[in-house]
Amino acid sequence: MIFAEAPSNIALIKYMGKNPEVSDTNRPTNASLSYTLDHLRSRVEIQNSSAESDSWQALQSPGWLPIELSEKGREKFLKHFQFLKKHWGIHGCFQLSSANNFPAGAGIASSASSFAALTLATYELAKSLNLTADVSRSELADLSRRGSGSSGRSLFSGYCLWDAEGFQQVGQEWPQLMHDLIVLDEEHKSVSSSEAHLRILTSSQFAGRIDRVDARLKKLFEAFNQADISSGAQVVWDEFWDMHTLFHTSQPPFFYMNENTMKVLRLIQIECSQLTWPLVTMDAGANIHILYFKGQENLRKHLHKCLSEFKIISEVIS
Ligand code: DP6
Repeated sequence: MIFAEAPSNIALIKYMGKNPEVSDTNRPTNASLSYTLDHLRSRVEIQNSSAESDSWQALQSPGWLPIELSEKGREKFLKHFQFLKKHWGIHGCFQLSSANNFPAGAGIASSASSFAALTLATYELAKSLNLTADVSRSELADLSRRGSGSSGRSLFSGYCLWDAEGFQQVGQEWPQLMHDLIVLDEEHKSVSSSEAHLRILTSSQFAGRIDRVDARLKKLFEAFNQADISSGAQVVWDEFWDMHTLFHTSQPPFFYMNENTMKVLRLIQIECSQLTWPLVTMDAGANIHILYFKGQENLRKHLHKCLSEFKIISEVIS
């Protein structure tokens, strides 16, 4: 049995928008920058199978929680495995099993961590069959991107930049962050992020998006290089609102935020108004990610108290 694990990541500057006409899959319209979330992980196991086709099942293993995959999700996962098999010349059929260390239905997108783990596990399989020499992390990230764009960033720890040059780790000297996820919706999303990437191209607000992202990326690099936390927090806040505005102004419009999202965002705004903010961001979902800097431990404790009515998945830093 071959296996691999990979972490999730959260984008501070978002990958949102891809050109449907480019034949090479998941080519974004703009650069993105993420922070890898080591505490939210996926594991993929690969076993030989005597069946006539590849198959997928939820992994049952101590310490890991069963994953839920829709029919479409299963197809996308197996399609990526078949792409990787072809890439490395792997023959035969296999049984894939996967699991996360966070509960299914906690509203956490597991596609980044699970596609990254699948790419790594298939690479291990190819190595075990002597079908490949060592491959760099950037090359593996680019292969993973073909399955799900954001998964490429999960191949790096810390901060990862994905731009026209590909994927690379950046900001080794930038601050380490502590992550909290405020879980506000546990339902399956009505619009998948793959669908969102196409729909936002119809938004009246899409014009200028590429320039806005470029300017924010530059500002965020400057802020982190100068340890200017408040400027960094402002950029990250503006960026997630920009992405959600694209959702709200697409044709037809769609929404992920719910009443609790607004309640928590307002509460953060009130509680942090006189203070230096943490990084606050959202993905294509209703949940809120908060990333705290060193020195913001008391603020984190305070917000935990204020948000005690909500489920929080918290990173424990030893
Ligand atoms: C909102 O990587 O899930 O999380 O490439 O179609 O699989 P596909 O999309 P996906 O998109 C992630 C979108 C996002 C923002 C981000 O992670 O940058």
